[in-house]
Amino acid sequence: MVNFDQLYSDRAGKMRKSEIRELLKVTQDPEIISFAGGLPNPLSFPIQDLKIIVQNVLNNHGKVALQYGATQGINELREAIAERSHKEGMTSGASAENVMITSGSQQALDAVGKIFLNPGDIALVGLPSYLGGINAFRSYEANLVGIPLDKEGMQVDLLEEKIKELIAQDMSVKFIYTIPTFQNPAGTVMPESRRKKLIDVAHEYNLVIIEDDPYGKLRYDIPAIKPIKAFDDEGRVIYMSTFSKILAPGLRLAWIIAPDDVMRKLALCKQAQDLCTAPFSQYIAHEFMKSGSMDLHIMKICEMYKPKRDIMMHSMKKYFPEGYICNKPKGGMFAWVTLPEQIDTEAMFLDAFKEKVAYVHGKAFCVDGGGGSSMRLNFSYSTNEQLDTGMKRLGAVIERKMKVLCR
Ligand SMILES: Cc1ncc(COP(=O)(O)O)c(C=O)c1O
Repeated sequence: MVNFDQLYSDRAGKMRKSEIRELLKVTQDPEIISFAGGLPNPLSFPIQDLKIIVQNVLNNHGKVALQYGATQGINELREAIAERSHKEGMTSGASAENVMITSGSQQALDAVGKIFLNPGDIALVGLPSYLGGINAFRSYEANLVGIPLDKEGMQVDLLEEKIKELIAQDMSVKFIYTIPTFQNPAGTVMPESRRKKLIDVAHEYNLVIIEDDPYGKLRYDIPAIKPIKAFDDEGRVIYMSTFSKILAPGLRLAWIIAPDDVMRKLALCKQAQDLCTAPFSQYIAHEFMKSGSMDLHIMKICEMYKPKRDIMMHSMKKYFPEGYICNKPKGGMFAWVTLPEQIDTEAMFLDAFKEKVAYVHGKAFCVDGGGGSSMRLNFSYSTNEQLDTGMKRLGAVIERKMKVLCR
């Protein structure tokens, strides 16, 4: 038998199991109604359109689409993304040369971790924050420090206090990781004034802002809000977004926008990661954008998800015992629920699992070990019937737990 433990790097030893991946495994059972994963609804995938597009790609671009491609991505797609970004307010520092196509945003998160973080460096993240980001940065042995969120996202005054404190202790603070629009998992939206303040703070202490924006287009009740990158006139914000939630995650296609200097490092990093993002996927996405279907498609997704969000919120009111807190998310795919503090949502998961309903417990998203009575519920994946039934099951589990605890 090979003793791999003796051979692994220290880094590999420190890598942790992804709680979400573990949970997704148990929720494969078709009888379980899962609010756990961050999955788009498969009925939203434009399969008929893609059948035609795939044919066209093979007919018109087969020889290049099936070949290795440029590390930064195919020009056509980078240009189309640069044009969209410009329309969204990113008027400087977002030309095609500043765009790199990645194999999902997850790869982009790994790459920023790789190019910025030495072991022990500080990365500032939201409390709560996206688990995949946390895991990516941890794999570079970073020290993750959490900044509490309120209804308007990361609290920038607390952020500044924390930065001062860390710098006074001679700590090496590198970047602020934020998901300002329909945050995963909390669903919050950072208002424009706070976005600008965040840039000021990053400027003051010479930090990079990593803006992760997979959900910005999935808007149900509020007008579009400009990304933080739109207020960045010195190239301090590294922006990323993905086709995963607006087209299909199976394409494994996302993009990162970064200033020239950082882009050179990212390209070197990507060469070691996977040489290039699948050109076949890139041509498919580009054809889809070129056909003019993108905006209409996003509208259809929003039309599908908004009622799902409403059913989840309505069922929560109907079936959950009093004492929970949940702000109605105005977009995205998640509701963040906080139960009375006696309830440990990690321990309650087994009870929920027995009742065939699943969620992700809040602690998984909190680098300070908090979030113990919170949970993240996904509303995009389930059918409308499952949403109601699942919330009913979950409400009963919580009610029982509360009765036991209050006895
Ligand atoms: C905040 C956030 N960032 C990044 C990702 C990764 O997305 P991708 O499928 O593009 O790798 C996700 C996926 O759920 C996410 O929620």
